[in-house]
Amino acid sequence: MKKQILAALLSGLFVVGCTKSGDEIRVGEFGSLTGNEATFGISTNKGIRMAIDEVNEKGGIKGKKIKLITLDDQGKDTEAVQVVTRLITQEKVVAVLGEVASSRTKAAAPIAQEYKIPLITPSSTNPEVTKIGDHVFRVCFIDPFQGYVMAKFASENLKLKKVAILRDVKNDYSVGLADVFAADFKKMGGEITSDISYQAGDVDFKAQLTQIRSKNPDAIYVPGYYTEVGLIAKQARDLGIKAPLMGGDGWDSSKLSEIGKDAINGSYFSNHYTSESTDPVVQDFIKRFKDKYGETPDGLAAMGYDAAKVLITAMERAPDLNPKSIRDEIAKTKDFVGVTGKITLNENRDAVKSAVIVQVQGATNKYVTTINPTP
Ligand code: PHE
Repeated sequence: MKKQILAALLSGLFVVGCTKSGDEIRVGEFGSLTGNEATFGISTNKGIRMAIDEVNEKGGIKGKKIKLITLDDQGKDTEAVQVVTRLITQEKVVAVLGEVASSRTKAAAPIAQEYKIPLITPSSTNPEVTKIGDHVFRVCFIDPFQGYVMAKFASENLKLKKVAILRDVKNDYSVGLADVFAADFKKMGGEITSDISYQAGDVDFKAQLTQIRSKNPDAIYVPGYYTEVGLIAKQARDLGIKAPLMGGDGWDSSKLSEIGKDAINGSYFSNHYTSESTDPVVQDFIKRFKDKYGETPDGLAAMGYDAAKVLITAMERAPDLNPKSIRDEIAKTKDFVGVTGKITLNENRDAVKSAVIVQVQGATNKYVTTINPTP
Protein backbone atom coordinates (compact mmCIF):
# COMPACT_ATOMS: atom_id res chain seq x y z
CA MET A 1 0.00 0.00 0.00
CA LYS A 2 2.74 2.38 1.04
CA LYS A 3 4.58 1.50 -2.12
CA GLN A 4 1.55 2.34 -4.19
CA ILE A 5 1.17 5.74 -2.54
CA LEU A 6 4.81 6.45 -3.10
CA ALA A 7 4.54 5.42 -6.74
CA ALA A 8 1.49 7.60 -7.20
CA LEU A 9 3.24 10.51 -5.55
CA LEU A 10 6.33 10.04 -7.67
CA SER A 11 4.37 9.80 -10.89
CA GLY A 12 2.46 12.90 -9.82
CA LEU A 13 5.73 14.73 -9.33
CA PHE A 14 6.94 13.46 -12.65
CA VAL A 15 3.84 14.74 -14.40
CA VAL A 16 4.15 18.14 -12.71
CA GLY A 17 7.81 18.30 -13.71
CA CYS A 18 7.02 17.35 -17.28
CA THR A 19 4.17 19.74 -17.75
CA LYS A 20 6.27 22.59 -16.48
CA SER A 21 9.15 22.05 -18.86
CA GLY A 22 6.75 20.98 -21.62
CA ASP A 23 5.09 24.38 -21.39
CA GLU A 24 8.22 26.29 -22.25
CA ILE A 25 10.98 26.19 -24.81
CA ARG A 26 14.32 26.13 -23.06
CA VAL A 27 17.07 28.02 -24.90
CA GLY A 28 20.61 28.33 -23.54
CA GLU A 29 23.06 31.20 -23.86
CA PHE A 30 26.71 31.31 -22.81
CA GLY A 31 28.83 34.43 -22.75
CA SER A 32 31.39 36.56 -20.95
CA LEU A 33 29.20 38.44 -18.49
CA THR A 34 32.26 39.16 -16.35
CA GLY A 35 36.01 39.41 -17.01
CA ASN A 36 38.14 41.32 -19.52
CA GLU A 37 35.55 41.02 -22.29
CA ALA A 38 32.45 41.55 -20.17
CA THR A 39 30.85 44.11 -22.49
CA PHE A 40 30.77 41.44 -25.25
CA GLY A 41 28.62 39.10 -23.16
CA ILE A 42 26.46 41.79 -21.58
CA SER A 43 25.62 43.53 -24.88
CA THR A 44 24.92 40.24 -26.65
CA ASN A 45 22.63 39.16 -23.82
CA LYS A 46 20.63 42.38 -24.14
CA GLY A 47 20.05 41.77 -27.84
CA ILE A 48 19.09 38.13 -27.30
CA ARG A 49 16.74 38.96 -24.43
CA MET A 50 15.02 41.64 -26.45
CA ALA A 51 14.29 39.24 -29.33
CA ILE A 52 12.97 36.62 -26.92
CA ASP A 53 10.84 39.08 -24.92
CA GLU A 54 9.33 40.33 -28.16
CA VAL A 55 8.25 36.85 -29.29
CA ASN A 56 7.01 35.91 -25.81
CA GLU A 57 4.89 39.06 -25.63
CA LYS A 58 3.21 37.94 -28.84
CA GLY A 59 2.33 34.58 -27.29
CA GLY A 60 5.54 32.65 -27.95
CA ILE A 61 6.04 29.85 -30.47
CA LYS A 62 3.46 27.12 -31.03
CA GLY A 63 1.72 28.34 -27.89
CA LYS A 64 4.85 28.06 -25.73
CA LYS A 65 7.00 30.79 -24.20
CA ILE A 66 10.77 30.70 -24.58
CA LYS A 67 12.74 30.45 -21.36
CA LEU A 68 16.27 31.80 -21.79
CA ILE A 69 18.93 30.33 -19.52
CA THR A 70 22.10 32.43 -19.59
CA LEU A 71 25.34 31.21 -18.03
CA ASP A 72 28.52 33.26 -17.52
CA ASP A 73 31.78 31.72 -18.77
CA GLN A 74 33.84 34.60 -17.31
CA GLY A 75 35.65 34.94 -20.62
CA LYS A 76 37.46 31.62 -20.13
CA ASP A 77 37.61 28.74 -22.64
CA THR A 78 37.51 26.02 -19.96
CA GLU A 79 34.52 27.63 -18.29
CA ALA A 80 32.75 27.86 -21.68
CA VAL A 81 33.02 24.06 -22.00
CA GLN A 82 31.60 23.60 -18.49
CA VAL A 83 28.62 25.89 -18.92
CA VAL A 84 27.62 24.54 -22.33
CA THR A 85 27.76 21.01 -20.92
CA ARG A 86 25.53 22.15 -18.09
CA LEU A 87 23.07 23.89 -20.42
CA ILE A 88 22.67 20.74 -22.47
CA THR A 89 22.84 17.94 -19.89
CA GLN A 90 21.16 19.61 -16.90
CA GLU A 91 19.14 22.52 -18.22
CA LYS A 92 17.99 20.41 -21.19
CA VAL A 93 18.01 23.27 -23.67
CA VAL A 94 16.92 22.62 -27.27
CA ALA A 95 19.36 25.16 -28.73
CA VAL A 96 22.36 27.24 -27.64
CA LEU A 97 23.26 30.84 -28.49
CA GLY A 98 26.88 32.02 -28.10
CA GLU A 99 29.74 32.77 -27.76
CA VAL A 100 31.19 36.00 -29.09
CA ALA A 101 34.90 35.14 -28.93
CA SER A 102 35.92 32.57 -31.53
CA SER A 103 38.26 30.72 -29.14
CA ARG A 104 35.42 30.10 -26.70
CA THR A 105 32.92 29.03 -29.35
CA LYS A 106 35.60 26.68 -30.71
CA ALA A 107 36.13 25.24 -27.23
CA ALA A 108 32.45 24.66 -26.45
CA ALA A 109 30.78 23.93 -29.80
CA PRO A 110 32.05 20.31 -29.94
CA ILE A 111 29.79 19.60 -26.93
CA ALA A 112 26.72 20.88 -28.80
CA GLN A 113 27.78 18.88 -31.84
CA GLU A 114 28.22 15.72 -29.77
CA TYR A 115 24.76 16.03 -28.18
CA LYS A 116 23.22 17.14 -31.49
CA ILE A 117 21.95 20.43 -30.10
CA PRO A 118 22.03 23.31 -32.61
CA LEU A 119 24.31 26.21 -31.67
CA ILE A 120 24.29 29.64 -33.29
CA THR A 121 27.15 32.01 -32.59
CA PRO A 122 26.14 35.62 -33.13
CA SER A 123 29.58 36.97 -33.87
CA SER A 124 32.47 34.47 -33.81
CA THR A 125 34.21 35.18 -37.11
CA ASN A 126 37.10 32.68 -37.20
CA PRO A 127 36.57 30.28 -40.13
CA GLU A 128 37.30 27.15 -38.05
CA VAL A 129 34.25 27.64 -35.80
CA THR A 130 31.53 26.25 -38.08
CA LYS A 131 33.82 23.48 -39.36
CA ILE A 132 33.24 21.77 -36.00
CA GLY A 133 30.10 20.20 -37.40
CA ASP A 134 26.65 20.41 -38.92
CA HIS A 135 25.05 21.70 -35.71
CA VAL A 136 27.21 24.83 -35.54
CA PHE A 137 26.01 28.00 -37.30
CA ARG A 138 26.85 31.69 -37.34
CA VAL A 139 24.95 34.78 -38.48
CA CYS A 140 28.08 36.88 -39.13
CA PHE A 141 30.71 37.07 -41.88
CA ILE A 142 34.03 35.29 -41.48
CA ASP A 143 37.56 36.67 -41.05
CA PRO A 144 38.93 35.92 -44.52
CA PHE A 145 36.42 38.61 -45.55
CA GLN A 146 36.94 40.89 -42.56
CA GLY A 147 40.73 40.91 -43.06
CA TYR A 148 40.32 41.65 -46.75
CA VAL A 149 37.98 44.53 -45.92
CA MET A 150 40.56 46.37 -43.82
CA ALA A 151 43.40 45.62 -46.27
CA LYS A 152 41.30 47.09 -49.08
CA PHE A 153 40.32 50.14 -47.01
CA ALA A 154 43.94 50.75 -45.94
CA SER A 155 45.25 50.38 -49.44
CA GLU A 156 42.52 52.02 -51.55
CA ASN A 157 40.86 54.56 -49.28
CA LEU A 158 43.69 55.58 -46.96
CA LYS A 159 46.38 54.91 -49.63
CA LEU A 160 48.70 53.39 -47.03
CA LYS A 161 51.88 51.63 -48.09
CA LYS A 162 53.48 50.39 -44.85
CA VAL A 163 51.58 48.80 -41.99
CA ALA A 164 52.82 47.10 -38.81
CA ILE A 165 50.86 44.26 -37.16
CA LEU A 166 50.44 43.67 -33.43
CA ARG A 167 48.54 40.43 -32.78
CA ASP A 168 47.27 38.54 -29.74
CA VAL A 169 48.97 35.16 -30.22
CA LYS A 170 46.74 33.29 -27.78
CA ASN A 171 43.54 34.35 -29.55
CA ASP A 172 42.41 32.34 -32.62
CA TYR A 173 40.45 35.30 -33.91
CA SER A 174 43.39 37.71 -33.67
CA VAL A 175 45.84 35.33 -35.30
CA GLY A 176 43.45 34.48 -38.14
CA LEU A 177 42.63 38.09 -38.86
CA ALA A 178 46.28 39.20 -38.72
CA ASP A 179 47.23 36.47 -41.22
CA VAL A 180 44.53 37.39 -43.71
CA PHE A 181 45.23 41.10 -43.45
CA ALA A 182 48.97 40.57 -44.01
CA ALA A 183 48.44 38.34 -47.06
CA ASP A 184 45.83 40.61 -48.66
CA PHE A 185 47.63 43.88 -47.94
CA LYS A 186 50.79 42.49 -49.54
CA LYS A 187 48.81 41.30 -52.57
CA MET A 188 47.52 44.87 -52.92
CA GLY A 189 51.12 46.13 -53.06
CA GLY A 190 51.55 47.06 -49.41
CA GLU A 191 54.40 46.21 -47.07
CA ILE A 192 54.18 44.73 -43.55
CA THR A 193 56.97 46.49 -41.66
CA SER A 194 56.81 44.28 -38.56
CA ASP A 195 54.53 41.54 -37.24
CA ILE A 196 54.75 41.33 -33.45
CA SER A 197 52.85 39.51 -30.70
CA TYR A 198 51.27 40.15 -27.32
CA GLN A 199 48.96 38.11 -25.13
CA ALA A 200 45.56 38.97 -23.70
CA GLY A 201 46.06 40.18 -20.14
CA ASP A 202 49.33 42.00 -20.95
CA VAL A 203 49.41 45.61 -19.77
CA ASP A 204 52.79 46.82 -21.00
CA PHE A 205 53.29 47.01 -24.76
CA LYS A 206 56.23 49.45 -24.83
CA ALA A 207 58.80 46.92 -26.05
CA GLN A 208 56.66 45.89 -29.03
CA LEU A 209 55.69 49.47 -29.84
CA THR A 210 59.30 50.67 -29.70
CA GLN A 211 60.20 47.99 -32.23
CA ILE A 212 57.27 49.02 -34.44
CA ARG A 213 58.22 52.71 -34.19
CA SER A 214 61.72 52.05 -35.53
CA LYS A 215 60.19 51.08 -38.93
CA ASN A 216 57.98 54.16 -39.11
CA PRO A 217 54.76 52.52 -40.44
CA ASP A 218 51.77 54.48 -41.81
CA ALA A 219 49.42 52.56 -39.49
CA ILE A 220 49.37 49.67 -36.99
CA TYR A 221 46.88 46.83 -37.43
CA VAL A 222 45.81 45.50 -34.01
CA PRO A 223 43.12 42.82 -34.42
CA GLY A 224 42.58 42.25 -30.71
CA TYR A 225 39.92 42.91 -28.07
CA TYR A 226 39.14 46.34 -26.65
CA THR A 227 40.89 46.15 -23.27
CA GLU A 228 44.37 45.63 -24.71
CA VAL A 229 43.71 47.81 -27.76
CA GLY A 230 42.83 50.78 -25.52
CA LEU A 231 46.09 50.38 -23.61
CA ILE A 232 48.11 49.89 -26.80
CA ALA A 233 46.71 53.14 -28.25
CA LYS A 234 47.69 55.08 -25.14
CA GLN A 235 51.19 53.67 -24.98
CA ALA A 236 51.73 54.23 -28.72
CA ARG A 237 50.93 57.94 -28.30
CA ASP A 238 53.17 58.11 -25.20
CA LEU A 239 56.00 56.83 -27.39
CA GLY A 240 55.31 59.53 -29.96
CA ILE A 241 53.73 57.24 -32.56
CA LYS A 242 51.22 59.31 -34.53
CA ALA A 243 50.12 56.62 -37.01
CA PRO A 244 46.48 55.56 -36.64
CA LEU A 245 45.58 52.12 -35.39
CA MET A 246 43.31 49.82 -37.35
CA GLY A 247 41.40 46.80 -36.09
CA GLY A 248 38.43 44.48 -36.38
CA ASP A 249 35.09 43.87 -34.68
CA GLY A 250 36.86 43.06 -31.39
CA TRP A 251 37.19 46.80 -30.82
CA ASP A 252 33.44 47.22 -30.54
CA SER A 253 32.91 48.23 -26.93
CA SER A 254 31.98 51.38 -25.03
CA LYS A 255 35.06 50.61 -22.93
CA LEU A 256 37.44 51.16 -25.86
CA SER A 257 37.32 54.94 -25.67
CA GLU A 258 37.06 54.85 -21.87
CA ILE A 259 40.42 53.06 -21.77
CA GLY A 260 42.08 54.59 -24.85
CA LYS A 261 40.71 58.13 -24.34
CA ASP A 262 42.06 60.63 -26.91
CA ALA A 263 44.77 58.20 -27.99
CA ILE A 264 42.29 55.98 -29.85
CA ASN A 265 40.48 58.83 -31.64
CA GLY A 266 40.86 58.79 -35.40
CA SER A 267 41.57 55.05 -35.53
CA TYR A 268 39.51 52.74 -37.76
CA PHE A 269 37.91 49.33 -37.37
CA SER A 270 35.72 46.98 -39.36
CA ASN A 271 32.37 45.97 -37.91
CA HIS A 272 29.07 44.20 -38.52
CA TYR A 273 26.72 47.11 -38.08
CA THR A 274 26.50 50.86 -37.61
CA SER A 275 23.89 52.62 -35.51
CA GLU A 276 24.10 55.46 -38.06
CA SER A 277 22.41 53.36 -40.74
CA THR A 278 19.35 55.10 -42.19
CA ASP A 279 17.64 51.76 -42.89
CA PRO A 280 14.22 51.88 -41.18
CA VAL A 281 14.69 48.27 -39.95
CA VAL A 282 17.84 49.37 -38.10
CA GLN A 283 16.40 52.63 -36.79
CA ASP A 284 13.28 50.88 -35.51
CA PHE A 285 15.47 48.32 -33.72
CA ILE A 286 17.55 51.09 -32.14
CA LYS A 287 14.42 52.85 -30.93
CA ARG A 288 13.00 49.71 -29.30
CA PHE A 289 16.41 48.92 -27.76
CA LYS A 290 16.73 52.43 -26.33
CA ASP A 291 13.21 52.25 -24.88
CA LYS A 292 14.08 48.98 -23.17
CA TYR A 293 17.65 49.60 -21.99
CA GLY A 294 18.21 53.34 -22.23
CA GLU A 295 21.27 53.03 -24.47
CA THR A 296 22.22 52.71 -28.13
CA PRO A 297 22.89 49.09 -29.13
CA ASP A 298 26.45 48.26 -30.18
CA GLY A 299 27.26 45.69 -32.86
CA LEU A 300 27.22 42.83 -30.38
CA ALA A 301 23.69 43.62 -29.24
CA ALA A 302 22.58 43.78 -32.87
CA MET A 303 24.25 40.44 -33.66
CA GLY A 304 22.75 38.85 -30.54
CA TYR A 305 19.33 40.06 -31.61
CA ASP A 306 19.76 38.63 -35.12
CA ALA A 307 21.09 35.27 -33.86
CA ALA A 308 18.07 34.90 -31.57
CA LYS A 309 15.68 35.93 -34.36
CA VAL A 310 17.16 33.39 -36.77
CA LEU A 311 16.61 30.72 -34.10
CA ILE A 312 13.07 31.96 -33.37
CA THR A 313 12.00 31.97 -37.03
CA ALA A 314 13.50 28.49 -37.48
CA MET A 315 11.45 27.28 -34.50
CA GLU A 316 8.33 28.87 -35.96
CA ARG A 317 8.84 27.09 -39.29
CA ALA A 318 9.85 23.73 -37.76
CA PRO A 319 7.14 21.03 -37.60
CA ASP A 320 8.02 20.44 -33.92
CA LEU A 321 10.48 21.74 -31.35
CA ASN A 322 12.94 18.85 -31.31
CA PRO A 323 16.59 19.89 -31.67
CA LYS A 324 16.83 18.00 -34.96
CA SER A 325 13.85 19.80 -36.53
CA ILE A 326 15.18 23.13 -35.26
CA ARG A 327 18.64 22.39 -36.68
CA ASP A 328 17.23 21.51 -40.08
CA GLU A 329 15.25 24.75 -40.25
CA ILE A 330 18.19 26.94 -39.13
CA ALA A 331 20.18 25.43 -41.99
CA LYS A 332 17.50 26.62 -44.44
CA THR A 333 17.74 30.29 -43.35
CA LYS A 334 17.50 32.39 -46.47
CA ASP A 335 17.12 36.15 -47.04
CA PHE A 336 16.29 36.76 -43.40
CA VAL A 337 16.08 40.53 -42.93
CA GLY A 338 18.22 41.18 -39.87
CA VAL A 339 19.29 44.42 -38.25
CA THR A 340 22.85 43.57 -39.31
CA GLY A 341 21.88 42.91 -42.93
CA LYS A 342 20.29 40.16 -44.93
CA ILE A 343 21.19 36.70 -43.64
CA THR A 344 21.44 33.62 -45.84
CA LEU A 345 23.33 30.66 -44.43
CA ASN A 346 25.57 28.96 -47.00
CA GLU A 347 26.60 25.30 -47.18
CA ASN A 348 29.28 25.95 -44.53
CA ARG A 349 26.61 27.38 -42.16
CA ASP A 350 28.19 30.85 -42.42
CA ALA A 351 26.52 34.11 -43.42
CA VAL A 352 27.83 36.19 -46.30
CA LYS A 353 27.31 39.87 -45.50
CA SER A 354 28.76 43.34 -45.96
CA ALA A 355 31.08 44.94 -43.42
CA VAL A 356 31.28 48.57 -42.38
CA ILE A 357 34.34 50.62 -41.53
CA VAL A 358 33.93 53.08 -38.67
CA GLN A 359 36.24 55.67 -37.17
CA VAL A 360 36.52 56.11 -33.40
CA GLN A 361 35.53 59.61 -32.32
CA GLY A 362 35.19 59.61 -28.56
CA ALA A 363 32.30 57.45 -27.48
CA THR A 364 30.85 57.31 -31.00
CA ASN A 365 32.02 55.19 -33.88
CA LYS A 366 31.52 57.32 -36.96
CA TYR A 367 30.38 55.46 -40.06
CA VAL A 368 32.91 55.75 -42.90
CA THR A 369 32.05 53.23 -45.61
CA THR A 370 30.52 49.85 -46.44
CA ILE A 371 32.46 47.06 -48.15
CA ASN A 372 30.47 44.32 -49.88
CA PRO A 373 31.57 40.75 -50.38
CA THR A 374 32.88 40.03 -53.86
CA PRO A 375 30.46 37.74 -55.69
N1 PHE B 1 34.62 38.33 -34.05
C1 PHE B 1 35.25 38.21 -32.76
C2 PHE B 1 35.79 36.79 -32.61
O1 PHE B 1 35.50 35.95 -33.39
C3 PHE B 1 34.33 38.52 -31.63
C4 PHE B 1 33.64 39.85 -31.67
C5 PHE B 1 32.57 40.07 -32.51
C6 PHE B 1 34.04 40.86 -30.85
C7 PHE B 1 31.92 41.30 -32.56
C8 PHE B 1 33.39 42.09 -30.88
C9 PHE B 1 32.36 42.31 -31.76
O2 PHE B 1 36.50 36.47 -31.70
